[in-house]
Amino acid sequence: MSSGPTFPHLFSPLRIGGVTVKNRIFSSGHDTVMAHDGQVTDQLIAYHEARAAGGAGLIVAQVAGVHPTARYTFHVLMADTDGCIPGYRRLADAVHPYGCVLFGQLFHGGREVMESQDGSLPVALAPSAVPNERFHVMPRAMPASLIDEVVHGYAHAARRLQAAGLDGVEIVASHGYLPAQFLNPRVNLRTDAYGGSDDNRLRFVREVLAAVRNEVGREFVVGLRISADEIGHDGLTTDEALVAVKALDSDGTLDYVSVVAGTSATLVGSLHIAPPMTEPNAYTAPLAAAVKSVTSLPVMVAGRINQPQEAEAVVASGQADLCAMTRALICDPLLPQKAHDGRAEEVRACIGCNQACIGHFHAGYPISCIQNPVTGRERQYGVLPTIGARRRVMVVGGGPGGMKAAVVAAQRGHHVTLYESQGRLGGQVRLAEQLPGRAEFGGAVTNLLSELQRTEVRIVTGTAVDIDLVRQESPDVVVVATGAVPRHPDLELLDAMPVLDAWQVIGGAVVPSGRVVVADWRPDWIGLGVAEQLARAGHKVTLAVNGYQAGQRLQQYVRDVMVASAVRAGVEIVPTVRLFGADDDTVYLQHVLTGEPVLIDDVVALVLSQGHASVTDLYDALSTPSSGFTGQVHAVGDCLAPRTVEEAVLEALQVAAAI
Ligand SMILES: Cc1cc2nc3c(=O)[nH]c(=O)nc-3n(C[C@H](O)[C@H](O)[C@H](O)COP(=O)(O)O)c2cc1C
Ligand code: SF4
Repeated sequence: MSSGPTFPHLFSPLRIGGVTVKNRIFSSGHDTVMAHDGQVTDQLIAYHEARAAGGAGLIVAQVAGVHPTARYTFHVLMADTDGCIPGYRRLADAVHPYGCVLFGQLFHGGREVMESQDGSLPVALAPSAVPNERFHVMPRAMPASLIDEVVHGYAHAARRLQAAGLDGVEIVASHGYLPAQFLNPRVNLRTDAYGGSDDNRLRFVREVLAAVRNEVGREFVVGLRISADEIGHDGLTTDEALVAVKALDSDGTLDYVSVVAGTSATLVGSLHIAPPMTEPNAYTAPLAAAVKSVTSLPVMVAGRINQPQEAEAVVASGQADLCAMTRALICDPLLPQKAHDGRAEEVRACIGCNQACIGHFHAGYPISCIQNPVTGRERQYGVLPTIGARRRVMVVGGGPGGMKAAVVAAQRGHHVTLYESQGRLGGQVRLAEQLPGRAEFGGAVTNLLSELQRTEVRIVTGTAVDIDLVRQESPDVVVVATGAVPRHPDLELLDAMPVLDAWQVIGGAVVPSGRVVVADWRPDWIGLGVAEQLARAGHKVTLAVNGYQAGQRLQQYVRDVMVASAVRAGVEIVPTVRLFGADDDTVYLQHVLTGEPVLIDDVVALVLSQGHASVTDLYDALSTPSSGFTGQVHAVGDCLAPRTVEEAVLEALQVAAAI
């Protein structure tokens, strides 16, 4: 890839240790949940090959445990035996032909243990018996003999990755993992040679780097990932991180430093592992700049850099030398190629929703993307089959599911018309983007509109489709994506308390002044967002949640940011209650565990956030034999069952790929 004119800094090569990276865009280490039995799989190889083919200069493969005690999840990749070499070799062989450099992360999480292999609690290890707040783990202080064993685990793992043909390794000292635990004087309380002074707390990392170097020689790249601010209670500070980087640089064992923020140890610190849309783009670049000020080594940075323009600015300003565009590449593996070829406006930008990438990871499923369901499914959908015959496809419903179905069907060569009853496309996303802190969610529609513009899809807005119109158009295939409407459950409403649904409130309906109850059945962003919106408008708001906590169904980092924001706005949260009814000024709830009544008085309005009901009229009519319609009929998204954008877009891909 030669240097692209629009992004001269982004497409200039960079020497790191003994290798040259062709551009400044890289995919930083991220657990994909695609390893099986601790080994590289075909799924993982296909995933990374797609990013290499799309032009990424460097891929840092996900964390790999260096010792049997490093299994922090049940699905973690392991590099603690020679059995890992063939898998890594196939991975290297898959990405190298694209001119993509491949490093691997070497990992021990110490006290950061999320789960075990079999459900029993494993013994977590750490420099000292200092508990982990987020996972509620009390670790065991490591005896010196075990420290030595783990140090050599890093070295042997590095040797294995080198033998497999990788170009380098990265010691994961970021996010509060074991090396960071040794560095941190509030977590490392040892009184032996590994604790106390700066030098003593650095000893573990130094021993790891020395042992790795000894094993792999000088040409093989060895880097360090570090949080230049763990941003959390008792986390490593910027000053402490800079002291460590400076000292390690002067040792001469390192080839690069990869900068992030946050720690796995606390709720607030962990959200910086995959910062949600509420964090500004490239917000960690000043931290990288601080690291650059104490080292002459190449510095990488990660943190919501989701467009080539931002990455170019970071590199051009000298804040960092390489930009992780990790979720950006999960969302659009072709980003580097598009930026290079002057087609940056075609980039499908990541919106920082965290739903299918780190959301899947936390739930134990292979990562994907709500906007790009091919991610994680490269082998099924990476290349779509050519069509047998050009069909006339009528897509009904212009939400994300309908838009995606239209795009994919048209890209495959079908003749597609997309109908939307409203004046513009976007469906529920148009509401979701109006919730506090959720504006970037609208990017999901902006991206699809841009994709639609590059197809020949005929778009008809302001037209509701009924069976007569279908008969009149007589398409070969109808994809019904008519979505859903707010669900209004049967309630005992004894008097005249105003009752509104969440959509009405988001849409600007007038809510009387005073105390409002938001009754939240599906605890996601809607109830929380509407509650915050009302509180910020001056209402006294109670969010009554039918679940353990507000935002229960959201990815943790997204939930925590939204809950904090709602609480700051003054929202009172009442968990584990179901909505029962209301009279003129009292909302009746029932505790879902005790069955006891919970009453909220002096209420002026009840807002329903009770989920959705599918709109199935057209699908039902077309599916009836007497309809006389003989073409194919498919339903996707909320019209099948009310869920989220993720399922709508995935089902749209599946249906459109099969027409
Ligand atoms: C699904 C997922 C898993 C991750 N796992 C790791 C990991 O194993 N090691 C690591 O150092 N960072 C991990 N990260 C953090 C990423 O490397 C990166 O720093 C983060 O996604 C922020 O960069 P971005 O805004 O470009 O996505 C993970 C991120 C995601 C989204
Ligand atoms: S799921 Fe959301 S945050 Fe994750 S890569 Fe896709 S758009 Fe980005």
